[in-house]
This record gives sequence, C-alpha cells and structure tokens, in this order.
Amino acid sequence: MSNGKLADRAMKVAFIGSECYPFIKTGGLGDVMYALPRALLREGCEVRVIMPCYRCIPDRFKERMVWRGSFMMDLTQDGRTYHVGVMESVLDGVTYDFIDNREFFDWGNPYTGLWEDIPKYCYFSKAALAALNFMDWIPDVIHCHDWQAALVPVYLRTLFSVTPVGAARSVLTIHNLRFQGICSIEHLKYWTGLPDYLFDYAVFKVNDREANMFKGGLAYADRITTVSDTYAGEIQTDFYGEGLNSHLSYHREKLKGIVNGIDIDIWNSRTDKLLHAAYGEENALQAKKLNKKALQERLGLAVDEDKFVVGLISRLTDQKGLDLINTIFTEMMDERIQVVILGTGDPRYEDAFRYYESAYKGQVCAYIKYDESLAHQIYAGADALLVPSLFEPCGLTQLIAMRYGTIPIVRETGGLKDTVEPYNEYTGEGNGFTFDRYRADLLLDAVRRAEWLYFEDRGRWDAIVLRDMEKDVSWEHSADLYLKLYGELKG
Ligand code: ADP
Ligand code: GLC
Repeated sequence: MSNGKLADRAMKVAFIGSECYPFIKTGGLGDVMYALPRALLREGCEVRVIMPCYRCIPDRFKERMVWRGSFMMDLTQDGRTYHVGVMESVLDGVTYDFIDNREFFDWGNPYTGLWEDIPKYCYFSKAALAALNFMDWIPDVIHCHDWQAALVPVYLRTLFSVTPVGAARSVLTIHNLRFQGICSIEHLKYWTGLPDYLFDYAVFKVNDREANMFKGGLAYADRITTVSDTYAGEIQTDFYGEGLNSHLSYHREKLKGIVNGIDIDIWNSRTDKLLHAAYGEENALQAKKLNKKALQERLGLAVDEDKFVVGLISRLTDQKGLDLINTIFTEMMDERIQVVILGTGDPRYEDAFRYYESAYKGQVCAYIKYDESLAHQIYAGADALLVPSLFEPCGLTQLIAMRYGTIPIVRETGGLKDTVEPYNEYTGEGNGFTFDRYRADLLLDAVRRAEWLYFEDRGRWDAIVLRDMEKDVSWEHSADLYLKLYGELKG
C-alpha cells in the first residue's frame, strides 16, 4: 500500500443519491452507488450511503434496518416542518442510512413525475445533511449524485454553512445530464426555502420563469465529476450539453471525467449462481454455448448453438439509440441471427419490439420487464450486445458484456468510446465493433462486420471473447482517482 493510501486511510465519505443496488435500482446510478463505496472501503475509507427509505424497497431489506432516531426539520418558504426518520443497515462494512418520511417516499417506483419529485428531492437533500449533523458523523467529503442530490452542495454552503457538516467539501457527479430538475422559480423557492439571491443566472435561474436544481448544484459543488472523460468534453458542447454547456464550460476548472467500473464480485461469470453454466476463461467458449441454449429454451427461441445471438439490455428511451435499431431491424434479420431484448420504458419502443417478436417467432424475444436474473443470463448466453446510444455518459452494459465474453457493438460516444476499443481487422486487436456518427446504416454495418467475423473467422472472434474477459473493468483504478480527488479537497 502506498503512503498516499495510508495517509487517506481515515477519509470519511458520505454518498448521497436517489437509488442504490440492492435496495432500489432503475439503472446504472444504482450500480455505482453500490460498487464505488465498496471500492473506497477497500481503499481504507469510511463510507456511508444516504438514500430515501422508499416504500418500494423490498421488505427483506426493511426488516433488517434499525431505527437511528428522528427529528423535525423546517423546509419550505413558509416554514412548514417535516419529520425526518433515520433507519440504518450495515452491509459488508458500508453503512446505509435511509431517510424516512411517508409523505414523500410512499409513492413512485421510486420516481413519480417531476411535479412530485422536485419537493421529494428538495426534502431529501436537506434531510440528508441534517441527518449527518443529527448522527454527529461529519464526513471529509460529501459525494452527491445527479440532480436529485444536486441541492446538497447549495444547502451545504448556505443554510448549513455554520453547522458542523458545513466543514465538509462536496463533489457532484453527473451520471446523466438529460435530467436536471427544472421547474418554476416559485416552486423551487417554496420547496427549498433558499434565499432569493440564489435565484440568479449564476445559480438556479434558467430564464424569467424557470429554475434548475442541477445548475445550482454544479455552481456550488467544490468539484464536479462525470462518468467518462469523453462525456466530460461532450457536455461542454451544444449537442450534448442539454442547455448547460456554457455553465459547465464556465466551471470546467473543477470538472473531471472518471470512468465507471463494475462490481466484479457481482458480475463474475465463475461464481454467478444465476447462470446455467458458470465459467472462466479456460472453459468460456464451451460454457457460453450451454448458456446460449439455456437462454433460447427459457425465451422460446429456436434452440441452435450456431445462431448469432444479439442482446439488448436497456432502459427503452431515446438516449439508447433505439430508433436506429428500429430503422434497421427488418434488414438486420437474416436467418442466422436471433435478437433478445430486455428492457422497459417508452411505450413506443416497447410496442415496436413486441411487434418484432410476433413477426419473427422463434427468432426474436422482447422481454418487456426489469429482470435481474434474465439480464445475467443474456450477458452470459448472447454472442454480442448492442449499445448504439445517442449519448452515453458511461454505460455499464458494455462493461458487463465484456466481462462475460460477449462482444459489444457500440456507438463511439461518451463512456462507450472510452471503454470499447474498435476491432482492427488488420491486427486483430480491439474489444468490440464500433461506429461513429449517429446513423442507422453505420449501425447495420457494425452488426454485419461482427456477424461476418463470427461466422467466417471464429478463431479471431474467440480471441476477442477471451481478451474482453481479461480486460480490467473493475473499480480499482477509478476508485483511486476519486480518492485522489477527495484528498485534494481535504487539503
Ligand atoms: P443507464 O444507467 O443509462 O440505464 P447503464 O448501462 O449505466 O445505463 O446501466 C444500466 C444497468 O441497468 C445495468 O446494470 C443493466 O444490466 C441494468 N438494466 C437495464 N435494464 C434492465 C432490465 N430491463 N432488467 C435488468 N437489468 C437492467
Ligand atoms: C447514467 C448514464 C449511464 C451511466 C450511469 C452510471 O444513468 O446514462 O451512461 O453508466 O448513469 O454512471
């Protein structure tokens, strides 16, 4: 262990965010809130994760929570006070504190709609800081995630500045800039109870009518990170900046990209109990065929190990490049391909994929659900995984796919660009198949290149499978980078 690590041994970090696996997860934010604290713990940090105690958290987790106490907190402009309960659970050394309030957290899965979610996360951000004071656990760094926790840096430097927690420094991580928490100035003023001077263009104000929670948090955070280097650059441009590009360029001195990893204990094909056949590099090629057959049987596809099985595991939203898939679908479907889709979201895409399932019986499966076990089985049983995103801050599915020896087919944007090295047909190097501009014909070309290699040069294909399984997609390196960043703040 380096001296740097020894010096940082006692670093205390509080994570504040709206979801965290295994309690509640809707996407990659939940994975990061689980895996990064554990990686930091291994580096010698003391870590607490603070999240809402949603009603939709499964009972088996609620039963294990212990009551830490409760207090009243004022919140709104007219001084309404709210109950804050603190429930606690310790899981493998990480302490999880759940902020309990039925009025805010009894609805949603866990999100509802912006109108209700804005008060909910105003309350949550303030209650999380108040809970740290209440528990008398003052972190060196408060690491906040996405718009739902973006008010934390603002509260920290204003209403909480002369309280004990005011000594902490803040980091705000952008996982997805598309969601910002925008509402009328009056609504945000009312629910935050924050002073008028913050409703200015440098902080919350968007225009004469609207305020933006993320914008304010980015202005007040001591450091801003996002989940890949490429996305850190992209969000300073018009196309990817979601209206905040100038604001982010203005704050670029404190902005840094740190790529996500995945938890390699959960995503471990050798020990994965959800798989039909667990495997390591030594038996991957054989075991992946068994997993493919089991997947085909489970999903009612023609059972044939020679099919080229392409998976998609995704929230079904515009972000994920699904219109490109829709455009090429019928052309892509030759007799050698099978397609497995796992996802929920926009009804437009859900319906389109259901239609393809009925049009290509035995060849396409559209599983329109959220299903952890099927996700594991697709990562193991598919040959390739599609991630043709319009934008992708990091993306975890391509990392998991590589770890399971499934070759990603991705668009070169954000974290996809930073983690998938394009296959080079001359040298045989690379991790996956990529295309650059957001065009359906380029996606089709990438699928065809992958399919060609799979059928025509299996030796080279298999070499990519094994290389991808060996690629380091763990949190270790990036956790070190966060630790270094926290260290700079601690001073
Ligand atoms: P995003 O956070 O934008 O949704 P990521 O690639 O970062 O995308 O993370 C998605 C995570 O959610 C991965 O762990 C993926 O396996 C999981 N996931 C997405 N959709 C489903 C689903 N329908 N069922 C199970 N897991 C899913
Ligand atoms: C967001 C992004 C995704 C990223 C995840 C975790 O949901 O869409 O690209 O991997 O957060 O950081």
